[in-house]
Amino acid sequence: MRARRHNAIVARARGRRPVKQLLRKGSILVLLGPGGVGKTTIAAALGLAAARASLETVVITLDPARRLRDALGLERLSARPARLDPRRLRAAGLDPALQLSAMVLDSKRVWDGLVARLVKTPAARQRMLDNSFYQSLTEQFAGAEAYAALEQLYDLHNGNGFAVEIVDTPPAAHAFEFIQAPAHLIRLLDSRAARWLFIPYAAAGKSVLGIANRAARFVVGQLEQFAGIRTLSAISEFFGAAAEAADSISDRFRKVDALLHSPAVTFVLVTTAEEDRLREARALVDQMETEGLRLGAIVLNRLLDEATFDALVAAPGRAPAHLAAISRMRATLAPLRGRDTADTSDALVSFLEGYGAHQRAAIERATRFARDLPARIELAAAPEIAAGVRDLATLAKVATIVIEAGAGRTFLERAAAALGVTPSPATAAAAHKTKKSSGKHRATR
Ligand SMILES: Nc1ncnc2c1ncn2[C@@H]1O[C@H](COP(=O)(O)OP(=O)(O)O)[C@@H](O)[C@H]1O
Ligand SMILES: [Mg+2]
Repeated sequence: MRARRHNAIVARARGRRPVKQLLRKGSILVLLGPGGVGKTTIAAALGLAAARASLETVVITLDPARRLRDALGLERLSARPARLDPRRLRAAGLDPALQLSAMVLDSKRVWDGLVARLVKTPAARQRMLDNSFYQSLTEQFAGAEAYAALEQLYDLHNGNGFAVEIVDTPPAAHAFEFIQAPAHLIRLLDSRAARWLFIPYAAAGKSVLGIANRAARFVVGQLEQFAGIRTLSAISEFFGAAAEAADSISDRFRKVDALLHSPAVTFVLVTTAEEDRLREARALVDQMETEGLRLGAIVLNRLLDEATFDALVAAPGRAPAHLAAISRMRATLAPLRGRDTADTSDALVSFLEGYGAHQRAAIERATRFARDLPARIELAAAPEIAAGVRDLATLAKVATIVIEAGAGRTFLERAAAALGVTPSPATAAAAHKTKKSSGKHRATR
């Protein structure tokens, strides 16, 4: 049963360019994933891929690595997207006419812009912007950055300028935190406790505060978790200043939340292929399904080194020559046994075998993950680029790998077969073994 289902998946995948199908006029891609897996890099790569498919594209990035920022020609933070310089594109061997724009999200500016637009009374607006609670809320609370990214998207989306919009997201402990950011803010604003807080602290009589106290403590507690400050008066003043705009702010949060849940949005999860990351990814797949959110694709980033990856893409049915050579090495060196150099060569062979086992284990985990993944979710992999993804030409290479069918389910199946890897269903023992061997290899590197 399992084998038949799996063959059907492979057959369906053949001849398709799965991830490329997500890049259509009107698409909005929202990248999700834990910190450091390559979300920002893959967001930029998908942007480049969309532009190469003749779609005018914008990528909203968050805190890109310096090299990537330089490669994209981005200022540290920006209010508007900037078009990629044709000279840079040409220098990287790309079509200078590509219509790709990118920006680095300026979360603070987005929030201040929102306040400026929604709080109409100049005095209240100024009180809000000067408020210490507002400042720490918008600067420190991770959810505030997540929301700002969506707010920026909403703005660009309604400006109608782009065919494809791609949004990078801040690192979150769980990818789902990001999706919940607007709803969280709406709940906070709409809660009865928050309504009480809209009564300015100083103006409220003692009795009012008394009644509000219990409810207020709850909200303040929630807010303190985000902002880490304890100044009730600042919080109260903040809500006081926001009072006149409460409905329009709430309305705006709702619109942004609606965009996030609209059919135009496809989520793309970026992950690496460690056992626990894959387990988290699988849990997220189910959670998104429950919430009715469309997870369009998963990108397994940093899977295999480039040499192994490229060899498998070029000749999918064959074990890469360097891995095959490692497998033969111990037998080849057997005649040296007993000589002076035996210890050194034995250590070297062990090291290389560890490397080979590490690559195989990665394929094994990825293939097992792929087989267990609902067929409607596209899958792509990208290799670990030894020199890092720090220029446009490398970004273009990653883009090509991710959107072509060459690195999806079929690729993994053929790679597993070529390397003689038999992915077994996850068992506690298997998971333990893989973890141990990959840990061992990392220690020897
Ligand atoms: N496939 C890859 N190969 C090599 N380095 C990568 C790859 N993907 C990302 N990186 C590097 O890893 C670091 C983190 O990537 P980034 O995209 O900023 O991750 P995230 O946005 O998930 O925190 C950066 O230095 C980036 O260049
Ligand atoms: Mg990032």
